[in-house]
Amino acid sequence: MTDVQPRKILVTSALPYANGPIHLGHLLEYIQTDIWSRFQKSRGHECYYVCADDAHGTAIMLRAEREGITPEQLIARISEEHQADFADFKIKFDNYHSTHSDENRELSSYIYKQCRDNGHIATRMITQAFDPEQNLFLADRYIKGECPKCGTDDQYGDNCEACGATYSPADLKNPKSVISGATPIQKDSEHYFFKLTDFDGFLKEWTKAGHLQESVSNKLQEWLEGGLQDWDISRDAPYFGFEIPDAPGKYFYVWLDAPIGYMASFKNLCDREGINFDEFWAKDSEAELYHFIGKDIINFHALFWPAMLSCSGFRTPTAVNAHGFVTVDGAKMSKSRGTFIKARTFVDHVNPEALRYYFAAKLGSGVDDFDLNFEDFVQRVNADLVNKYVNIASRCAGFVKKAGGALSENVAEPEMMASFIEAGEQIAEFYETREFGKATKLIMELADRANEYIQTKEPWALAKNEGSEQEVLDICSMGINLFRQITIYLAPVLPEMAEKVQAFMNLETLSWESRKEVLKGHSINKFKPLMQRVEGAQIEKMKEATVADLEAEQALAAKTDAKPASEETSSKHWEDNPLAEQITFDDFVKVDMRVALIENAQHVEGAGKLLQLTLDLGGEKRNVFAGIKSAYNPEDLIGRKTIMVANLAPRKMKFGISEGMVMAAGPGGKEIYLFSPDDGAEPGMRVF
Ligand code: MSP
Ligand code: ZN
Repeated sequence: MTDVQPRKILVTSALPYANGPIHLGHLLEYIQTDIWSRFQKSRGHECYYVCADDAHGTAIMLRAEREGITPEQLIARISEEHQADFADFKIKFDNYHSTHSDENRELSSYIYKQCRDNGHIATRMITQAFDPEQNLFLADRYIKGECPKCGTDDQYGDNCEACGATYSPADLKNPKSVISGATPIQKDSEHYFFKLTDFDGFLKEWTKAGHLQESVSNKLQEWLEGGLQDWDISRDAPYFGFEIPDAPGKYFYVWLDAPIGYMASFKNLCDREGINFDEFWAKDSEAELYHFIGKDIINFHALFWPAMLSCSGFRTPTAVNAHGFVTVDGAKMSKSRGTFIKARTFVDHVNPEALRYYFAAKLGSGVDDFDLNFEDFVQRVNADLVNKYVNIASRCAGFVKKAGGALSENVAEPEMMASFIEAGEQIAEFYETREFGKATKLIMELADRANEYIQTKEPWALAKNEGSEQEVLDICSMGINLFRQITIYLAPVLPEMAEKVQAFMNLETLSWESRKEVLKGHSINKFKPLMQRVEGAQIEKMKEATVADLEAEQALAAKTDAKPASEETSSKHWEDNPLAEQITFDDFVKVDMRVALIENAQHVEGAGKLLQLTLDLGGEKRNVFAGIKSAYNPEDLIGRKTIMVANLAPRKMKFGISEGMVMAAGPGGKEIYLFSPDDGAEPGMRVF
């Protein structure tokens, strides 16, 4: 007997772009959705959670080009990375697919044709910036130039970071394509539009009909009052995406086929597992459909998407659940502050379940931003999970084991037990309405009660009295049963913990319904620690790794960015420094170059250009005056390795004797680039 009618539920999270790694901001969404879907499954519903990589668009095409691989290769690699990240955070999709798939191509064509045949597609000529070198139409974010107001260079096409002026890309002075550096020209092209205006009435109804959070619904009403515009759904070749049927050279804009990717991923699952697709997507479907998304993409999900679905004969979402943005320590996630933390970097240093718990503990059903405060995080996770929850089991398990390993046949406090079971109703209600913070609060109150019970009964004191064995077993069995209740309630948040508890307690199931059973005479196993405390040092290491990551990324970007301009600039280098006279090999080996460790670097009083370096050549030391002051701070040099000419005759200078030369390239000024050997090279090694 179950107290819940089984429902058919399809759940999605927004599809992450296939051009970058999963970070903590993304994780808020995937963890929120995963908790909700695990909860529904625990309740015995037929619930599917599907997702996919969002693989199309200009950014992905350009990135692949930059890396010298095909977009298909890029999206395959990123998909693997994404899925590995999700797996480590125990985000359990029933299917993870790609928008670049056969299912999505078919469904996108079908939906488009339905819309077209029902008269909701129009074409129009538009004029747009075009990069004549790349042969590519340029979206606003690919154009930079001088601000028309204050003249600051290197500003994007819509607003100036220096003076705050807003304008259109056509107003920029000296506009340049970010991709090639070429000056954009204006060019005409025919575009395809989805006539969103045809759905004005439908959307005014739909956005008020209980599918959206109230604040979201209100915001959209304002929008709708302002008047809708038709939606440009085509992009010109070259574009990585699907070609529009009967429109050669025209591609679906990535946002057209992205939400259809939800259907496509589910279709892929249906075909594999024999689930009835239409039961979930047909117009008269009785199944429930939920999209979890960030607040930045509400328009796509609450306007375009329902309109497209309704015009092509499909059902619309039961609800679109939006959440706010993650901030870290009170500020927007930032690469330079070390708070733009990748999922991978987090797992490398901190237990992922700690993050799942912290998100749950502070999440509500609204769209407020979510502040991840690391001090609070450490404190909260340790206090709730280690000191409260796990503590219940660790205090009781030993005594049960000592008494033979089986729980008592008696229930010491039947009323307390009943109230823990009863609490499941309220907790379920909180999960259902995405009030995870309220759910965890209630669960922790149960944990407090369980601990108080054990504290008052003091089984450790009783155990010293002969003849109290049964009483001790009764108390501790009670404790273990309460611990099991709490585990059932926490399982959607802490799946890995739940698995460990299942193993420890020999439990076949942790379904919501199973909470009603009280274990008597049931054998448990030896207790092993279930969770380690999170230490502040782990957080520090994670932040350091994030900064190091950023530096590596910048170095890589500098390398790849240098490519397009290289032809022009390298010829200039040859003009400045024509090739020197040919030398023989014997001439060459006369120059003895060595790997040197910069042991010390300091300013030289009175010298405008020089830094004084102390170089360690693996035993030998050298004092060198190097003309690199305009490009380097001494502090940044200490500890790094470089290459020096070690057998150059010493030279007497105004400030002392220079015993060699460090090797660097560049014309001078800020542009001096000191050489570094690859990792592994040791001071004193000779360079050939
Ligand atoms: N590809 C689109 C979604 C298409 S859905 C048919 C996209 N991708 S995304 O990678 O930029 O973002 C994926 C999801 O993560 C979005 O719901 C987005 O709101 C969410 N988040 C991205 N950064 C976030 C934070 N810093 N905080 C919370 N959520 C964030 O948008
Ligand atoms: Zn300006």
